Amino acid sequence: MIKIMFVCLGNICRSPMAEFVFKDMVKKQGLDKEFYIKSSATSYEEIGNDIHYGTRDKLIQKGISFERRKATRLKPEDYKKYDYIIGMEDSNIRNIKRIVGEDVDSKIYKLLDFSKNPRDIADPWYTGNFEVTYNDIVEGCVGLLEFLKDKYSI
Ligand code: 4NP
Repeated sequence: MIKIMFVCLGNICRSPMAEFVFKDMVKKQGLDKEFYIKSSATSYEEIGNDIHYGTRDKLIQKGISFERRKATRLKPEDYKKYDYIIGMEDSNIRNIKRIVGEDVDSKIYKLLDFSKNPRDIADPWYTGNFEVTYNDIVEGCVGLLEFLKDKYSI
């Protein structure tokens, strides 16, 4: 099983959106048994809170299923537990490394590293634009899934 942890600053906007989009994608391709998918925050700001209404509304609009959840913080031991720890922007990557230490096993990536146009995913908490975020997350998740299908021959 391939274990993936999506990470953002608050774990209420981007990383849970990536979690539910990627879960939907692998399910539609009949690959859900191959994956264990979670998301977490680098900050303590929103711990225990459910997803932001902007993320919730966007998932409903796009027909992506999701569950009620509570934001959690990335733990140092998650580095061993997960195969891929995937942040949304450079500042996430710096914060992830502050929590888990150096990336000795090359497990830490930005989501859009898996696209043809690597870049940060802007934080809709600040931009208010959940459509741009959604499109970026879909682009990253498509690239990630193609990469993993190829790498693990699934
Ligand atoms: P996220 O957005 O990192 O995409 O979940 C944010 C949510 C909350 C905060 C910052 C970013 N905050 O400062 O509480």
